[in-house]
Amino acid sequence: MATFSLPAKDVDEWNLNPTVTYRHVLSQSTGVHNPLRTIGLCDLDCFYAQCEQRRLGIDPALPIVVLQWDMLIAVNYPAREFGIKRMTKLPDAKKMCPNLVVVHVATYKDGESEPKYHPDPNNKTHKVSLDLYRRESNKILNVFKTTLPTAEIEKASIDESFVDFTRPIQQILLERYPELASPPPDSPLNLDTPLPPPPARLEWHKSSVWVPVNPEAEKGTESSEGPQQEQDSTPATWHDVALSIAAELLDNTRREIRETLGYTTSAGIARNKFLAKLVASYKKPNSQSVLRNAAIPNYLRPLPFQKIRFLGGKLGTILAEEYEAKTVGELLYIDLAEMQRKFGPESLWVYQVFRGIDIGEVKEKPPVNKSMLASKNLPKPIRQDGDVLQWVRVLCSELAVRLLEARETGTVWPKTIALHTKQAGDSASKSKQTPFPFVRDLTGDVIVAAVMKLWKELHTSDAERAANPNVPKMKIINIAVSFNGVETLEQGQRNIAGFFGGPASKGASSSKLIAQEKKSHEDDSNASPLTYKCPTCSKVLSVLSVEGDDEDTRAARLEAVKAEHEDFHFAQRLSRQETIKLGAGSGKRRISPARRGPPSKKRKEPGIESFFKKK
Ligand code: CTP
Ligand code: CA
Ligand code: CA
Repeated sequence: MATFSLPAKDVDEWNLNPTVTYRHVLSQSTGVHNPLRTIGLCDLDCFYAQCEQRRLGIDPALPIVVLQWDMLIAVNYPAREFGIKRMTKLPDAKKMCPNLVVVHVATYKDGESEPKYHPDPNNKTHKVSLDLYRRESNKILNVFKTTLPTAEIEKASIDESFVDFTRPIQQILLERYPELASPPPDSPLNLDTPLPPPPARLEWHKSSVWVPVNPEAEKGTESSEGPQQEQDSTPATWHDVALSIAAELLDNTRREIRETLGYTTSAGIARNKFLAKLVASYKKPNSQSVLRNAAIPNYLRPLPFQKIRFLGGKLGTILAEEYEAKTVGELLYIDLAEMQRKFGPESLWVYQVFRGIDIGEVKEKPPVNKSMLASKNLPKPIRQDGDVLQWVRVLCSELAVRLLEARETGTVWPKTIALHTKQAGDSASKSKQTPFPFVRDLTGDVIVAAVMKLWKELHTSDAERAANPNVPKMKIINIAVSFNGVETLEQGQRNIAGFFGGPASKGASSSKLIAQEKKSHEDDSNASPLTYKCPTCSKVLSVLSVEGDDEDTRAARLEAVKAEHEDFHFAQRLSRQETIKLGAGSGKRRISPARRGPPSKKRKEPGIESFFKKK
C-alpha cells in the first residue's frame, strides 16, 4: 500500500487538523466535537490468565492457560509463543507445550457456599464462577478512578475501560501554557480566537508506541531515534500535545495497576473511542499505542473493513460485493451522496467510520439498577420438581457471594429477585419476579426459599402434571436466577443496612421499612435489563441462555444481539429501496415483499448509527 501525502482537500475532509480556540481549552462542557478530545482504551493482557497467575504466585514468564470445562478461555503470551490460541484443543496445547500450566476456573458445587478450585470439576455437577475476575476487575477500575479523578471513565467490559482525557488535558494545558488562560485582550473573536501555534518541538511520550504517519517511509529506519524523527517530520498540533499528555497520564495509571496489583495492560490513545479501541491492539502485550490525527489515513486505509465491528455481518458483505472491495481505502472514493442514495441516510456512520470519525461518548455507567444473574445451561434437563433444588442452590450461593461482595464497597440491595427457566424448543425463557425483602443475615438459603416459591408459581407441579395429560412434559434446559434493580441505598435508607451484619436500627420499625421498600418495589416497573424489546417490531430479544458470562459480557452480548437485530431492520429498509443486492456467497437475492416486516415506526435514534455510538 503506497504512502500518499495529504492534499489540502483530504486534510479538510478527514478533519485532521481542526482549529483549536481558547474556548476549547476553557469550556467545561467538553463535548464530542472539541478538537482537543482525547480518548484512551485500556485492556488487560490475557486477563483471566493473569488473574490465575497472580493467585497462584506463578512466574509470569511461564506458559499458562485457563480452562472452562475442556475449552481454553485465556492463553498467556508465553503460551501464545508455542502457537497456542483460544481455539486450540487442550490435548493439542499440551503437545505444543509440554510444560504448560493448566488451571481450571473456580466452580460452585451444590452444598458449598463459595466457589472452589475443585480438582475435577464437571459440567454435570458444577457451575463456573467468574468471581475472582470480577473482583480483580473492580480493583483495576478503582485504580482508574483514583489516578484519574477528573477524567470520565467507562467500564466497557470485564477487562477494559474507556477514558475521556479531555478535562484533565485542559487542566494540564493551562498549567503548562498559562498564556492559554485568556485570549489577547484586543481579539475581536474573544474565546473563539484560535490558539497561538503549538510548541515547535514536542517530546513525543517515550514509552508509548506512536503509529507512524508514513509507514512506508519509516520502514527500515527502526532506530531509537526513528519514531521521534518520523513524528517530528509532521509538525505537531495542539491535539498532538493533548495526546502526549494523555499518554503520560495513562502510562501512570497503567504503571500503578502493574505495581500495586501486578497486572500488565495494553492501551490505545486517539481522538475517539473507535480509534482508541482499534489502536489498542497495535502492539501487545504491555504496550501503549498512540494514533495522531495525521496518522489516521495511512492507518485506516489498508484495514480490511469487514474486521470493523458491525461491518463483520451483512452490511460488510453488501459493501464488499457492491464495490468488490476489501479495505477501507478502496471505499474512500464513494462520496456521501452516493453512499446515502444506495444505502439510505443511516449509512452516514459507515462514511464517517471510514474517515476515523466517531461521536460516541465516554459515559460512566450508573452504578444503580444493575442486575446480577447466575445462569446454568443444564447438562441434564430438569424433568420434574425434584430435579430443581440442586441447581437452585448452586445458583443462589453464587448470588449470595456476589451480593455480599458488592456490599464491601457500599450498601447495596436488590429490589427484586427473578427466576428464569427455558424449556427445550422454546425460543424465550419464562420468568417470574418478586420483591426481595431485607433480611438480617443473607445466606444462600434465604435466596433459595424465595426462588423455590417462584418455581412453584412458574411451573405446574408434578402432581398436577400427572393428573392432567394435556399439560406438556417438562424439559428445562437452562435455569437462571437474577437480582434486579441492585441499588446503592440512599442516606435515608441506610438504617436498613443494620439488617445485615449489625443490630437493626432502633429508630425505624423494621416491618415498616420493609413495607415501604416493598411498595417501592411494586411501583417499579423497570423491565429486567436482560431482555430488550425492539421498538420497531416489538420482538423481545433475550440473552439468558449463555453460561459462564459475567454481567459485562452479557450486557455486551445483549448489545450485539440488538445491533444484529437492528442491522436486520436496516437491511430491510435497504431492500425496500430496491437498489442493492442482499446475501453472501453465490446467490444474490432480494428480500421478497412477503418477508418484509411491518413498516418501521419513526425511531428516536437511527439504528445502525446508534451501534456505533454504543461502542
Ligand atoms: N473471554 C472468554 N471467552 C471469550 C472471550 C474472552 O471467556 N470468548 C474472557 C477471557 O478469558 C479473557 C477475558 O474475557 O481473559 C478478556 O477477553 P479479551 O480481552 O478478548 O482477551 P484476553 O484473554 O484478555 O487477551 P488479550 O491479551 O488478547 O486481550
Ligand atoms: Ca484483554
Ligand atoms: Ca478485552
